[in-house]
Amino acid sequence: MIPLYDVICFYWVETRGRRVCDAVQDLVQHVCTRMWGYVKDTFHTGMGVEQGRAQNLPGSGLRNSWTENRFHTRETRDWTSGSMCWTVLLLLVTLCVRGLNGEGGGQAQQPGHVSVVIVGGTGDLAKKYLWQGFFHLYASKVSSGSTFSFYAGGLSPADKAAPVLFEILKAVTCSKNVSRERCAILKEQFLRLSQYRQLTSLEEYQDLATHIEERLQEEGMKETGRLFYLSVPAFAYADVADKINKSCRPADGAWLRVVLEKPFGHDFRSAQVLAAQLSGSLKDEEMYRIDHYLGKQLVTQILPFRIDNKKVLDPIWNKHHIERVEIVLKETLDVKGRISFYDQYGVIRDVIQNHLTEVMALLTMKLPKNLSDSEEVLQNKLQILSSVLPLGKKQAVIGQYQTYTAEVQQELNKTKEHVSVTPTFAAVLAHIDEARYQGVPILLTSGKMLDERVGYARVLFKNDVFCLENHNALHCRPKQIVFHFGHGSLQYPAVLVSKNLFKPVLMDSEWKEVADHTDVSVLGLPISDYYVQTPKEQREAYTELISHIFAGRRNSFISTENLLASWGLWTPLLSSLASVYPRIYPGGADNGDLLDVCLKGRDLSYTNEVVLIGSDQMGGVGQNGFHVMQGKFRSSDMVSGWSEELVERLAADVEEAAEAAVGQSGVFHLALSGGSSPLALFHRLALHHFSFPWRSTHVWMVDERCVPPSEPDSNFHTLHGHLLEHVRIPYYNIHPMPVQLNQRLCVEEDGGARLYEGEIGRLVNGSSFHFVLLGVGYDGHTASLFPNSKEDKLEGGLVALTESPVKPHRRMSLTFEAINRAQRVALLVMGKGKHELMTQLSRVKDNPNKYPVTGVKPANGTLVWYIDYDALIG
Ligand code: BG6
Repeated sequence: MIPLYDVICFYWVETRGRRVCDAVQDLVQHVCTRMWGYVKDTFHTGMGVEQGRAQNLPGSGLRNSWTENRFHTRETRDWTSGSMCWTVLLLLVTLCVRGLNGEGGGQAQQPGHVSVVIVGGTGDLAKKYLWQGFFHLYASKVSSGSTFSFYAGGLSPADKAAPVLFEILKAVTCSKNVSRERCAILKEQFLRLSQYRQLTSLEEYQDLATHIEERLQEEGMKETGRLFYLSVPAFAYADVADKINKSCRPADGAWLRVVLEKPFGHDFRSAQVLAAQLSGSLKDEEMYRIDHYLGKQLVTQILPFRIDNKKVLDPIWNKHHIERVEIVLKETLDVKGRISFYDQYGVIRDVIQNHLTEVMALLTMKLPKNLSDSEEVLQNKLQILSSVLPLGKKQAVIGQYQTYTAEVQQELNKTKEHVSVTPTFAAVLAHIDEARYQGVPILLTSGKMLDERVGYARVLFKNDVFCLENHNALHCRPKQIVFHFGHGSLQYPAVLVSKNLFKPVLMDSEWKEVADHTDVSVLGLPISDYYVQTPKEQREAYTELISHIFAGRRNSFISTENLLASWGLWTPLLSSLASVYPRIYPGGADNGDLLDVCLKGRDLSYTNEVVLIGSDQMGGVGQNGFHVMQGKFRSSDMVSGWSEELVERLAADVEEAAEAAVGQSGVFHLALSGGSSPLALFHRLALHHFSFPWRSTHVWMVDERCVPPSEPDSNFHTLHGHLLEHVRIPYYNIHPMPVQLNQRLCVEEDGGARLYEGEIGRLVNGSSFHFVLLGVGYDGHTASLFPNSKEDKLEGGLVALTESPVKPHRRMSLTFEAINRAQRVALLVMGKGKHELMTQLSRVKDNPNKYPVTGVKPANGTLVWYIDYDALIG
């Protein structure tokens, strides 16, 4: 039986402000206040909770049972039950509240009992955020009939950990709108409902389950669900999940929710392994992976904001109107104290792969029809994550604060020679492969030891107004929407919309407009230039998310599919950056413009290319110090440089050749090869060479695999995806090799090779291409001309079917005859993996049978080798 005064006090608070109960409230308030005085006196005179607890502590932890825990003493029970007046009052209030709850209550959850177990319940996270969050949950739900019990699980024995827990619980605080009296009661109840349990072995988990079940029976309670919050290192997840699965599942009809904290893996593969391990114990819908950014008040409002303002936003939320999107988390602190974690992760894994990616998804995903349909929200998010274009080295810059390596040496006990290349700063430029966002740059940036602490997402719109005179007039200023997560010059979370854009709908009753502007500017605009909305009460992200777990709102968490999609996006970039030295920055305001970046097409680079600071720590010369150099290789011209600069040079050479040819004959015939090396060239041409004469260019193929063009293995497929679809070239100027004829692939009798040869003969003057781009394989092959192939087959014709030693074996290729007729041949070789081959090639004589590439010898044209430093120097 719940004590009378308890119920009354709670019900009074719950019904405060509701019309029907006005009269009752006054009465109850009066009585409750009086009674609270009584209770206080009682405790101060010997029945004190603190005192009682202090006696209880050693050995037993915060011993309690639900019966003992109800906040009552014999005195108060007698006092309350002795009063007829109280009973009547209680009935009145109860009826009143029930009526109200039925009317507009809309409780998502059927009242019942929920057992909460925080595994790692006395750790840092639990202390800082989790208990506070669960207290808030308790305080907000208890009056609607839900009952709770809370357990802190840990590895330490109870006599050591229980006092620690007690201190943590004592420190929880109530929201502003809770009266002091009610707050004291709530805290007291919460303390009594919480206890510590050692959880190391399976038996201890079993004991916990037995304990919960016995109490449920004793109290005649129906269990709604069990919530396990794993605030433990990720390596322990699989084991704890297994124990929960084996011993702590609730009875049928009640839910099990297991909450996990990042890191969820280190890359795609490890995330997949962890997900597979967990799926052996838990169903997907039982896992709640937390990203605390999804609980930040501003982040939770991104979708509602987009929906509420849909009418105005829909026509402008696209590439025609959005200049760019920036998602920024700047921090001033270093990572001292957590280097053993951080050094393995770095800034991209720590905050960009998760927090900033989630924000990007919320800003760009398709709006769900129903915001509370978790499945729909998660699917829409998955769709946008899967549409982000692949990220490579050129889409990112990384940095490291100057003292980081010394901190690593110290914290990880490393020698002075140890150099860490873990980035503490990164800026990444993403693009989404969807018509709506095509070409819209999305910049994600974060770093430690920066000049200020601030987090925001900004959507900057193109300014379509031309101001002839007064550039400072409101309508001439930048138009932007800023989701300001907190800190920074503003110091509070807010949504800001430029006044020259539109006036947003007020989000909901928990938000207010800020009209009294102080003298502060946000991202270049004085605050008075914005419509500003902020939450009436600021809430911790964890508190918010804990209430979402209770309500089963899975869309506020990371599903397995979405997690893997995000790792799928970030892992290739992380791998490609593994060999890049971060730029060293001094930290704080001294960084100056060192970390400023500029966007060039799809690429991103530091604006200031000089790397001076700390170059001695880098164990060598930075990439940026070199330019291309020219020389000779196998008696032909050679251009060499770091891959990026080399490709820039090659692209410029191709454009120059194109312009010359078009100038001379009105047409440019370019033959391109497959493989991975040319991809960088394709990107460069597509994204940087806007005056390339594509309309007068014919694109031919050097070789093709005998697969349908829809297959990713097809060279044409690659060429199309990486170049052709991004440039304005007439369809009739594109000449794929006819590997598929008569519904079959590369059959001699179908005459594909002859067909291609005929087409070349018809269109290319003297069958002499203006420019042929070739690569070299590890075995020395070029085009699809492999070592020890039957030369006789290739003689005479311009195109031939050939045989590759690796799958798919059948190929179509230009022959030496065709290649050597070209006016210019470029041989592009990149990557350390080719170094060995380059060394051999520099020594061997021409031997096309063993090293086909040595058969490339343009009869009247020129051959230039483009070899990057990795391939040349190793
Ligand atoms: C955490 C990262 O997930 O997020 C920290 O591990 C980072 O390195 C923190 O400082 C940032 O969160 P917030 O809420 O302080 O912006």
